Amino acid sequence: MNSITITPVSSVKGEIHIPGDKSISHRSIMLGAIANGITTVKGFLRGEDNLSTMKAFRSMGVRIDDDGETLAIHGKGLHGLTESSDVIDCGNSGTTIRLLSGLLAGQSFFSVVTGDQYLRKRPMKRVVEPLVRMGARIMGRNVGNLAPLAISGGALNAIGFESPVSSAQVKSAIMLAGLYADGETSVREPSLSRDHSERMFRLFGATVETFSSGVTVRGGVELQAQDITVPGDISSAAFFIVAALITPASELLIRNVGVNPTRTGVIDILISMGGSIELLDQRQVSGEPVADILVRSSQLKGIEISGAVVPRAIDEFPAICVAAACAEGITTIRDARELRVKETDRITAMANNLHRLGVMVEECEDGMTITGVEQLGGGEVESCGDHRIAMSMSVAALIATESITINDIECVATSFPTFYPLLEQVSGR
Ligand code: S3P
Repeated sequence: MNSITITPVSSVKGEIHIPGDKSISHRSIMLGAIANGITTVKGFLRGEDNLSTMKAFRSMGVRIDDDGETLAIHGKGLHGLTESSDVIDCGNSGTTIRLLSGLLAGQSFFSVVTGDQYLRKRPMKRVVEPLVRMGARIMGRNVGNLAPLAISGGALNAIGFESPVSSAQVKSAIMLAGLYADGETSVREPSLSRDHSERMFRLFGATVETFSSGVTVRGGVELQAQDITVPGDISSAAFFIVAALITPASELLIRNVGVNPTRTGVIDILISMGGSIELLDQRQVSGEPVADILVRSSQLKGIEISGAVVPRAIDEFPAICVAAACAEGITTIRDARELRVKETDRITAMANNLHRLGVMVEECEDGMTITGVEQLGGGEVESCGDHRIAMSMSVAALIATESITINDIECVATSFPTFYPLLEQVSGR
């Protein structure tokens, strides 16, 4: 297990490009694979999670060429995937296993999907239950709630599903199954989660209707290959946004970041905390809003975070917790129970780690209360095998009084393999 020790820096400066968006990269392969024609993808994120998706589709007979810059996905049409000869290993990727389960529910062959020790602990019932209602046969450990999952797909019925959680993975799994269902499948969620599937389905020619907190997909409509450019991932940019905000004398320009409004909760939250963040040159790329983001160091203040902004910032809470630890006053986070079922329990992981640096954190079932400190202390913290915990604690280390050692950092490669070289570049080591 690798660890890294990071010493404090005096500023964060420069101009950087962030690697491609993880969610959009997954979806580009999935839709490209079942479209007619060759889909090209530029800016694809070559993190381990997305490589798991690529491998899964190759194992189902999809040719994917990669010249190091552009992917060419040779689509097989809606009904052209073939049975994998082995178990499909989704690694650490919740998006791979859940979206794939939806897609496999509509295939007339047998599949087994599984993942690493962390993924095998995460709840799958949230997708299994609606997919079974659509007519798929799915078995798994813990009465169908835990991977490995065995999926026998086939003809599906359209359903109207009210998801109890705001989850783009649940919504997208049902949308993918909906492509194979007889009629119109709809999903409603408590408040809107990221809508990359809705946008990309439309781009590929699917019949999709969106309403305030839901979507309807028509089954049986063939998809057409597209040329896609993936913007930089705002979830990866978030670590650098927080780094520049909390480190004195900093100014950082982050180029080409996806600013889809269902993902910009982190920007709204940090601006409410007093952060100086500007979106420059806003534009549209492959149906997604994109901008350059200019960040300057700022004195942050504690705020209350709850409600509809939570799903719009769901992956950024580890970074937001670090901002809160450096802010003046108290930050409360509520309605964020979903953080307990991410790659690790992110509420407990962040509370324990910040505690070790001298920050007072109180956990509650659906969130936490963080009292900001003037200076973070040094020490040793744990990633808990979670990429975002590792990266947020690495950012905290930039302004601690002494060095911080972050243990078990291999997981960073799941979403951001170039994180440490970029951090080194902007902090002028
Ligand atoms: C994702 C959805 C979110 C997010 C994950 C990626 C996606 O998960 O946390 O990193 O690409 O659909 P949930 O749907 O479980 O909220």
